[in-house]
Amino acid sequence: MSSDLASFVAGLPKAELHLHLEGTLEPELKFALAARNGIELAEKTVEEVRATYDFTDLTSFLAVYYPAMQVLQTADDFHDLAWAYLERAHADGVVHVEMFFDPQAHTSRGVPFVDVIGGYRRAVVRAERELGISAELILCFLRDFSAEHAMSTLMEALPYRSWIVGVGLDSDERDNPPAKFQAVFARAKQEGFLTTMHCDIDQVGSIDNIRSVLDEIGVDRIDHGTNIVEDPALVALAKERGLGFTTCPISNSFVTEQMKSDEIVQLLREGLRVTVNSDDPAYFGGYIADNYVALAEKAGLDRADLAQLAINSFEASWLTPARRAEYIARVREFAG
Ligand code: HPA
Ligand code: ZN
Repeated sequence: MSSDLASFVAGLPKAELHLHLEGTLEPELKFALAARNGIELAEKTVEEVRATYDFTDLTSFLAVYYPAMQVLQTADDFHDLAWAYLERAHADGVVHVEMFFDPQAHTSRGVPFVDVIGGYRRAVVRAERELGISAELILCFLRDFSAEHAMSTLMEALPYRSWIVGVGLDSDERDNPPAKFQAVFARAKQEGFLTTMHCDIDQVGSIDNIRSVLDEIGVDRIDHGTNIVEDPALVALAKERGLGFTTCPISNSFVTEQMKSDEIVQLLREGLRVTVNSDDPAYFGGYIADNYVALAEKAGLDRADLAQLAINSFEASWLTPARRAEYIARVREFAG
């Protein structure tokens, strides 16, 4: 990697919009939390943990991802997880972040909702004060749980609505199409939440799910979603709506054969609001700057392209127009 490229990317002010807090659990922190909570882990070394990260698709990733979360037990654990990520993101030039969390992965194990959100919120406030990063939380429903479970989770979240900017949908897309959650997302919108949904890469029926997310759900953003290139009419519609796409090149190369750089760059060149993000950096071995660099090297992007990706990250963010404009001015000033 050219050190010029790496330092340009690290200095570029950017927003991260596709980041699962539970996906930032590094093996070292996993061991520390296990020790603190008296949990015995099957793996004894960091290397042994990393050796289990042999993913071939989304399902095989999720089979490792959820069991690891058992070490997260108390509000302090959630705070420490988010804080470690925020410090790491700060080092990568992230100035604004909208972070997913999966409350059902914890409440279904008996962890109270308030401990999950309380711990995360403490890290959000601390990041603003100590790092100058603005951070928001996006509550993600697990799509392999029932729509009723999602609705009751939404109800449980209402007392904390001022701490949650929007709702999303993640986990296993197979047999769990967007329409399953139509009522939940309609209610979330009524309650004032912004909305996004994962449209994972190369799923059975990816393009139908993307169409449904645009037509039936009416989301404000799409996570991943690059299979949209299969239907030029949908690409045109997404462009007209100014819809943001939160792509994750390194994650793509773990759950499919490739980074999907051709699709990402095609959408960027067509003028869609494509952004670059890290998804689950502890599992896929790359934080946001690594993702910018990996994509740039693979697709031959220049500094102007990278600056455009950073501008897109603010345009697709859920900041106010005035804050977006401030950050975009900072990108332009940095990139020259
Ligand atoms: N897709 C679906 N579920 C997830 C992901 C993802 O990229 N990351 C964490 N949970
Ligand atoms: Zn994701």
